[in-house]
Amino acid sequence: MGRCPGCGAWGGLSAVSTARPGLAEVPAPVRLADLGADAPDRILTGIGELDRVLGGGLVAGSVVLIGGEPGIGKSTLVLEALAALSRRGQVLLVTGEESPAQVGSRAERLGADCGAVEVLAETRVDAVAAAIRGHRPLVCAVDSVQTLIADGVDGGPGSVGSVRQATAELVRAAKETGVVIILVGQVTKDGSLAGPRLLEHLVDCVLTLDGDELRDHRVLRAAKNRFGSTNETGVFRMGARGLEEVRDPTALFVESGPRRVGSCIFPAIEGSRAILVEVQALVTSTQIVPPRRVAVGIDRTRLAQIIAVLARHAGIGLGDQDVFVSVAAGARALDPAADLAIALAIVSAHRGRPMSAASAAFGELGLTGAVRPAGHAVRRLTAAAAGGVSAAVTPAVSGAEGEVPRPDSVFRVAEVREALQAAFD
Ligand code: TYD
Ligand code: MG
Repeated sequence: MGRCPGCGAWGGLSAVSTARPGLAEVPAPVRLADLGADAPDRILTGIGELDRVLGGGLVAGSVVLIGGEPGIGKSTLVLEALAALSRRGQVLLVTGEESPAQVGSRAERLGADCGAVEVLAETRVDAVAAAIRGHRPLVCAVDSVQTLIADGVDGGPGSVGSVRQATAELVRAAKETGVVIILVGQVTKDGSLAGPRLLEHLVDCVLTLDGDELRDHRVLRAAKNRFGSTNETGVFRMGARGLEEVRDPTALFVESGPRRVGSCIFPAIEGSRAILVEVQALVTSTQIVPPRRVAVGIDRTRLAQIIAVLARHAGIGLGDQDVFVSVAAGARALDPAADLAIALAIVSAHRGRPMSAASAAFGELGLTGAVRPAGHAVRRLTAAAAGGVSAAVTPAVSGAEGEVPRPDSVFRVAEVREALQAAFD
């Protein structure tokens, strides 16, 4: 062919081996045994709650996405992390959402010293990538990824194509330079916005910051982490001087004082920590068929299953009742061991009386009505005792429990009926 059909140049084509047309060289794979098994280098931010959720600090060349609703504290958390990291090296904050002056006034409020943080007001992703390649900071944060503009993409800033392309471009820059990139992503209430959801597969780590407007605590979790577990939880409190770490959140999510009607404490395991969470239930009679089953912070299918087990194995029929179950904002109880606490909260709400003898419970409910053992029984009991729980309902067999602090009374039950007796009689 005299003229290249691709670029239009004359005489530019040359022959390659006819044995493997199109493949100049056979790529050589590497044996896993020959790869160094070294743990990646970590950069500690110095904010313990953040470092733990990251799996022990930031990994060089990684890209971390922090998502959350507007106003939850993403910019604050990122600025605090940069302030701490600025003692270790150059840190760059690319701001597209706020002016440098607005960033400056946030910095003034914080307890941390932000003086060495370098701010760049920029929204063109090419320019951001050039700054990363040119300055090679230790860490570069971009607030937010939705404000970035990528060339040659339809739809403008914030559009699906633009956010994706901008992220891909920054991921390339991070891998090339070893610079850690932290991306802030806005999520709307329904979690559907062109943003974090679309980017999960592009980045190494996705963190979410949760909480509610009424209470000031914030919970940080990893939804994805290529370099660590996704079980850890970081807990903060939003105060007058930014986000403060809550190093011992054991009893943070539980109202003190006697249990109210429809309330049961569940000692949840969050990674390396046990945290007490309060399961709340409301049961009201209804004309609606089928009645409503509303679950917040717990799994809906499990809720339906627990209601069915109560009906069949404890004679508690809720067929003409709406059932609402929730765990205190920001906390979750997705572990099957939460079943018993959920069941007791529902029964308490249904009977209109608080749990009497015990205030906390854990254990998985089988479809047969059996209360099954749960993992980490000792840690759960220890946390319950630390949180002031004096009596708990637990599975009959729950592993070895040496001399550990635990509630004064532990009611061991094998059946859901027994659990109700232990809790209410
Ligand atoms: P921000 O980090 O701007 O949230 P996001 O980036 O997720 O939108 O924080 C927003 C809220 O936090 C704002 O309503 C003010 C409050 N706040 C404090 O209460 N104390 C503080 O020290 C700071 C900096 C913010
Ligand atoms: Mg912000």
